[in-house]
Amino acid sequence: MPDLTCSLLGLTLHNPIVLASGILGTSAALLERVAQAGAGAVTAKSCGPAPRTGHPNPITIEWGHGLINAVGLTNPGAPVEAPLLAEARALLQPLGVPLIASIFGGTPREYGEVARTIATARPALIEVNISCPNVADEFGTPFAADAVAAAEVTAAVVANAGGIPVSVKLAPNVPDIVRIARAVGAASASALTAINTMPGMVIDPYAGRPVLSNRSGGLSGPAIKPIALRCVAQLAAEQDLPVIGTGGVLTGIDAAEMLMAGATAVGVGTAVWYRGPEALGQIVAELDEFMAAEGYTSLAELRGLALR
Ligand SMILES: Cc1cc2nc3c(=O)[nH]c(=O)nc-3n(C[C@H](O)[C@H](O)[C@H](O)COP(=O)(O)O)c2cc1C
Repeated sequence: MPDLTCSLLGLTLHNPIVLASGILGTSAALLERVAQAGAGAVTAKSCGPAPRTGHPNPITIEWGHGLINAVGLTNPGAPVEAPLLAEARALLQPLGVPLIASIFGGTPREYGEVARTIATARPALIEVNISCPNVADEFGTPFAADAVAAAEVTAAVVANAGGIPVSVKLAPNVPDIVRIARAVGAASASALTAINTMPGMVIDPYAGRPVLSNRSGGLSGPAIKPIALRCVAQLAAEQDLPVIGTGGVLTGIDAAEMLMAGATAVGVGTAVWYRGPEALGQIVAELDEFMAAEGYTSLAELRGLALR
């Protein structure tokens, strides 16, 4: 039987399959359900400095090859979120499933403040969503598209994380993702999560307008899998931080591909929309079945195979 145990930043996960941020919010009961269904680790929805109601409906639709969403970072704000995360962590601990918190802000200073508040809940890892506009930038360029700003955010989070390791979540729509990765690595990030959603638009031809109230949104699911695989492969080949490879993984075979691209662990989001909260456990079982059938005995044999 293959050994699916996954070592990530000194944590030992039962398997490499990680719930991606934003899919099931921060409800302790839902995160616990995904953990019971077999996830190796779970990531909470991104949380910022203050409450946000997000965008009006429709905010998420399935368009044929995946989802497009513009949820608008709905969250209760870090001071309310921290005790919810502490509750989730307490439920997950007996299951041996680490909790990953996710944070965002509008300035490096805000990121630092959110990190300090969220660190009180003692998550195993703090993931930093840098796909939001830098309010100090003239054009509101997302931090993820600017190596200097991304490094400033990383440094602010690391300085306030109370020793909790930090993973920076990279965006795919940049000319050189490795450059951003190296900049956040130099600012003491411990890991990378790649990728966030890819910007897109879906138009309703009968209404003659975009389907989302926000007009454009982020693509996820099958449409972005090749984009995610390429980003992960580039990161694994050209820099040293471990990568939580995320984007378009719906099945255990997709997860195997992500590991072959060099991912250390595999994030799963949209699959939960298609297959329900049991998706992660099903993906683990399918990965196990694939590995057994193909004669792989450990994740190390898969990792980076496609780069050699
Ligand atoms: C409805 C929805 C909400 C999301 N919310 C967040 C979020 O709050 N923070 C974040 O970093 N990523 C968020 N994401 C991005 C996912 O975590 C993931 O990076 C992306 O969807 C690609 O993975 P997938 O194809 O497995 O869904 C969201 C994605 C979806 C579909």
